[in-house]
Amino acid sequence: MKGEPLSSVLEQAVETPMVGKSVITLDDLSIRQIQELLHKAQYIDSHRKEVAHTCDGRVLATLFYEPSTRTRLSFETAMLRLGGKVIGFAGAQLASVTKGETISDTLKTVSNYVDVVAIRHPKEGAALVASRAASVPVINAGDGGHMHPTQTLADLATMQSRFGRVNNLTVGLCGDLTFGRTVHSLIETLCRFGNVNFVLISPDELKTPQYVLDRINATDSCSYTEVKDLVSVIGDLDVLYMTRVQKERFFNEDDYLRLRDTYILDEAKMAYAKKDMAVLHPLPRVNEIAVEVDDDPRAAYFEQVKNGMLMRMALESSVVGDELPGYEPLESK
Ligand code: CP
Repeated sequence: MKGEPLSSVLEQAVETPMVGKSVITLDDLSIRQIQELLHKAQYIDSHRKEVAHTCDGRVLATLFYEPSTRTRLSFETAMLRLGGKVIGFAGAQLASVTKGETISDTLKTVSNYVDVVAIRHPKEGAALVASRAASVPVINAGDGGHMHPTQTLADLATMQSRFGRVNNLTVGLCGDLTFGRTVHSLIETLCRFGNVNFVLISPDELKTPQYVLDRINATDSCSYTEVKDLVSVIGDLDVLYMTRVQKERFFNEDDYLRLRDTYILDEAKMAYAKKDMAVLHPLPRVNEIAVEVDDDPRAAYFEQVKNGMLMRMALESSVVGDELPGYEPLESK
């Protein structure tokens, strides 16, 4: 039973201001606010010097209880490039959680030091718990296999720059669709934009969770098909979103070893794809994209990395309430 589309219910919700806002999933932002962030990121990219003091005097904390290269470094670079400073830890072993401190107590403490927090944690829901305890905005930098909203912002910026839009597209997602939090965030957000045809490519063991499929089902203008074979569908895709099999979320090593190389995108497979298909990947990759694909103009994953930093600059400045000098909001255009 479909009832009123969930996307429409969400979009009817009263938009709350960006200033002071925690972002745990992208449902915390209206579509208009996401579009404004995309517009801000473009402005930042072409006005690096002008924005370099936007967040003078601000401090960001990065609390990373799980490994990261891109997300932590781009959150930090984003604040540094806006003129602010950064504190934090990269690994739970360096924090007082090893002495038994709760996330809530850590956030009540760190809120006294900083203007905004980015947190990554292996447990689903940890970022929400953190935001409820904090008195400053908290941005989810990945909570277990649940959500990774700022990766989705990077994905949207990359689709926007390749196609001039993020919907009216056929989007293939391939690999570990069970544990890949970036997949869950992206699907849920694209459903809000509407008019997306999803092709979900995975082995039976790594299929998309039901709660994510429910979200697609609740969106009248979106549809999905589930398939196992990449080559048979690659020619239909505008976007191919490859993912790593998430070793750290498997319960046993044998299953991981059996499934990890199910999909390897190489130039032979790319020969069946559209000339303007965009290959995205949140990275890190292991074997799922052959290095030879990096030189293919359709490879967009290192653009995604750059877009991740720009989107985090847009988000950080917005939630602390600092205006980008010279920026004209989208709504005034
Ligand atoms: N995309 C992503 O989350 O990368 P890291 O794990 O390196 O932060």
